[in-house]
Amino acid sequence: MKLKRVAVLISGGGSNLQALLDAVEDKDDPLLIEIETVVSNRKEAYGLKRAQLKDIETHYIGKGNYPDLAERDEVLLAILKEKNIDLIILAGYLGILSETVVSEYPNQIVNIHPSLIPKYCGKGFYGHHVHEAVIKNNEKMTGATTHYVDSGIDTGEIIAQMEVPVYKGDTVKTLSERVLEIEHLLLVETIRKICV
Ligand code: GRF
Repeated sequence: MKLKRVAVLISGGGSNLQALLDAVEDKDDPLLIEIETVVSNRKEAYGLKRAQLKDIETHYIGKGNYPDLAERDEVLLAILKEKNIDLIILAGYLGILSETVVSEYPNQIVNIHPSLIPKYCGKGFYGHHVHEAVIKNNEKMTGATTHYVDSGIDTGEIIAQMEVPVYKGDTVKTLSERVLEIEHLLLVETIRKICV
């Protein structure tokens, strides 16, 4: 069976990427995808190192080397086309995916967001900002969401969600760690589901 050829886009530590890499190597229940390339918009992203340790082709495409957004799109699209990518996974990716790229891959771009969309998503709600707002609003539950990417921010069709409790006395650190843990599970299960 032909495995989906996947590009993973990252910006940071790459723990979500690592969850995918580990699942691909899982002997009992391997995630049946081919991770062809990892692209970061941040040169220092440790996720690039995680990919290089598995001999996966990596690319840095960011404001530092391609200041012009249109040029960044062109370079990214060329890589995606050249590698015959079927599925793009945004794993902690904080860059902008313009309409040019999104429209080339309808229902082929999956994002993971650290809240229960439609809560705490959209412009400005990323990383610790999400958890700060959840704590500030005294939420009892939060979680993570995977969704298809459309031209909006965190607005595409929801694929799956997983919940975690918010405990009294939670800090951004304790809450973000609890959410990140289930992001890893949710992302792998989501990709399993759409790649059967
Ligand atoms: C985390 O804030 C996570 O919630 C979000 O992206 C950030 C970094 O994730 N999805 P990663 O460790 O780089 O995968």
